[in-house]
Amino acid sequence: MKCKILKTEINSFMSFGKMPIANGFLKEENFDNEFFFNLDIGFSEKISLLQLNDHPTPEQMFNKNYPFYTGSSEFMKAHFANYADSVKKYLKTNSRLIEIGSNDGTFLKNFINSNINILGFEPTENTALEAKKRGIKTINNFFSQKNISDLKDFLNNTDLICGANVICHIPDLTDTIKAVDKLLSKKGVFIFEEPYLGSMFKKTSYDQIYDEHIFIFSATSIQKIFNLFDFELIDLIPQITHGGSMRYILARKGQRNINSIVKKILDDEKKMNLDNLQSCINFKKNCEISKNNLKGKIENLKSKGKRICGYAATSKSTTVLNYCKIGTEFIEFICDTTKEKIGKYSPGMHIPIVSMNHFYEQKPDVAFLFAWNHKEEIFNKEKNFTENKGEWISHVKL
Ligand code: TYD
Repeated sequence: MKCKILKTEINSFMSFGKMPIANGFLKEENFDNEFFFNLDIGFSEKISLLQLNDHPTPEQMFNKNYPFYTGSSEFMKAHFANYADSVKKYLKTNSRLIEIGSNDGTFLKNFINSNINILGFEPTENTALEAKKRGIKTINNFFSQKNISDLKDFLNNTDLICGANVICHIPDLTDTIKAVDKLLSKKGVFIFEEPYLGSMFKKTSYDQIYDEHIFIFSATSIQKIFNLFDFELIDLIPQITHGGSMRYILARKGQRNINSIVKKILDDEKKMNLDNLQSCINFKKNCEISKNNLKGKIENLKSKGKRICGYAATSKSTTVLNYCKIGTEFIEFICDTTKEKIGKYSPGMHIPIVSMNHFYEQKPDVAFLFAWNHKEEIFNKEKNFTENKGEWISHVKL
């Protein structure tokens, strides 16, 4: 599926090669039918937007067996409780609140038993079911103009629309913004947080680039895109989640005061060349250096007879493993807590995914931390491994 955003031209500047679906953990009998696409990224200077040039369809990525649950991390549960607290200032008694991509309800559950009328949109059936079990009203479908048209009570009447790690997943950004426009009240606010381009460039965390992340946003790109729809940034709040994210707070032009941090961050982004192709060219060079360093490090460990495993079968790991061509000759297994992933194989490189017990029983010498963004939580849990001279490695600085 080709990317179509606002009909702007995109300059392709880098390819990560042939890539499978990042969350497409699979059984052995499906190896022969595995779907691959070319993971090429481009940059539109007109709207300062980094985007994939090609990607699988949303239905291929977000289906009834989607193996990601927001609530799988204790840290993220606390993060969403704080997020919920911080947006209450935009709500009043009986306000309507919609979450796009509500997953298992980790965010919306914070509004149960309040006087807020909540509604989640979640296309993946298994996670939507979890939310429904918690009593959260959930539409098991994609958020789009078509799918909101029946929501009479919410049209022009929703004070807050929220999202996290979801807007960058939706290929038709124009349709998303038009749907938001139809739902929001006059002073309504649209808030979402996504992996941040500035952090990805700074850390060379290229594993943020995979099929689901069709866009990697910056404040500059968001300002330019929403300007076309008469919205403006009123606030920006940097987040530490997912290795560095940005929370964008938007309102209709002229309806709300603008926090001075907006100008400061936009100015900083200009200095970092996030508005133009120069930063992309540097990023490309850094990715190639990172790939060579990682391969060198892993080959060196193997030559010393070290046993290496992967820790956490994240979507992000699919890009690292396939771009650097790291398979079972280097990594014996990847341990993970998600029941839908255990017993399957990693997309593309087909490394077995096993339960955490395997990690404790096998006692590898080295663990490649694929969930490097959860390192505090994981290092805390795995003190035994570290104290017994277990070595943590990653392609980013830990
Ligand atoms: P995350 O970085 O949120 O993944 P993604 O790259 O897919 O967005 O990490 C979630 C995955 O990591 C999920 O498969 C569960 C796994 N995980 C563990 O196995 N143990 C842990 O302690 C944590 C925090 C995550």
